[in-house]
Amino acid sequence: MYTFDELQTLVQENMNKENFIEEPQKLFEPIDYILEDGGKRLRPVLMLMAINLYKDNIEEFMKPAIGIEIFHNYTLLHDDVMDDAELRRGRETVHKKWNSNVAILSGDAAAITAYLYLVSSDDKYLRSSIDTFNKVAMDVCKGQQYDMEFETRMDVTVEEYIRMIELKTGALIAGSLKLGSVFGEASEKEQDMLYKFGMYLGVAFQLQDDNLDVYGDVETFGKKIGGDILCNKKTFLLITAMNLANESQKSSLDSLLSDSNISDEDKIEKVTALYNEIGVREIANKEITKYIDMSIDLLNNLSVSEDRKGILLNMVSILKDRIY
Ligand code: IPE
Ligand code: IPE
Ligand code: MG
Ligand code: MG
Ligand code: MG
Repeated sequence: MYTFDELQTLVQENMNKENFIEEPQKLFEPIDYILEDGGKRLRPVLMLMAINLYKDNIEEFMKPAIGIEIFHNYTLLHDDVMDDAELRRGRETVHKKWNSNVAILSGDAAAITAYLYLVSSDDKYLRSSIDTFNKVAMDVCKGQQYDMEFETRMDVTVEEYIRMIELKTGALIAGSLKLGSVFGEASEKEQDMLYKFGMYLGVAFQLQDDNLDVYGDVETFGKKIGGDILCNKKTFLLITAMNLANESQKSSLDSLLSDSNISDEDKIEKVTALYNEIGVREIANKEITKYIDMSIDLLNNLSVSEDRKGILLNMVSILKDRIY
């Protein structure tokens, strides 16, 4: 069975062989730009890993795997407009390099390209793979909607936050594994288990992303540090800080969140200082460990050989400690 690293290389090599540019070039150039080497290629790797649990020949499924990565990048094109993000993978975001109209329309074209890659698999998988993919795509939209609505709400609960990240991030990670099990012709029970495994992994992944958004290093993370703080994103860190703050910390947080005159640097520095004082990072890390442990429990129930499970376990530990 292929390891995480081997699959990452395989996906990248195959993506390098694809030509994403056609006429009109201005529609496709931003897609080519965002798909250039740089991302972790996590979702196609997970899909191929799930196939590889049940089948040895995974190369046949490279197109749908690339389709999943294109879909992920389409969500990023639109997400960066919505979050007004300036940096992705250490480079200017598409809406900053070109403009928002470009990011929207090229994003649309990327989403359709993703479907074209997905349906290039054998017809016998079509019904099941399209049904799975459509549900994922709609869940991502729902999650992104909640994510935006929460920016202006002050009473978001941890449960609401977890539900939101299950939709915006968990669904695609879980769906990638489920699609892999569909192509691997696993039983429905195994498909559901892999979906659930991916959902726990996806929640841990987004919790970690939110931590890195505050505590990461811009050089390795490739995104602006403090972007979530500037948008008043209701991350686990912010919700937990508001829940645990004493009177004076609470009023400082409230005024920082509603201050429209404060400079970006000042706001990031002061909110981060409150996070440190309240100790929310450690609580978030415990939450990550909780979801990682739940994902590992599920893995242990899969009916595949121990060495194949071992490769998945190894992947989980790589993700748990990721810094980008
Ligand atoms: C970024 O996903 C969006 C989130 C769901 C946090 P990744 O962290 O997988 O981004 P790339 O593709 O590796 O850049
Ligand atoms: C990502 O959430 C969710 C989707 C792209 C659907 P974020 O907004 O946290 O992702 P990054 O941090 O910009 O990559
Ligand atoms: Mg974003
Ligand atoms: Mg976002
Ligand atoms: Mg983020």
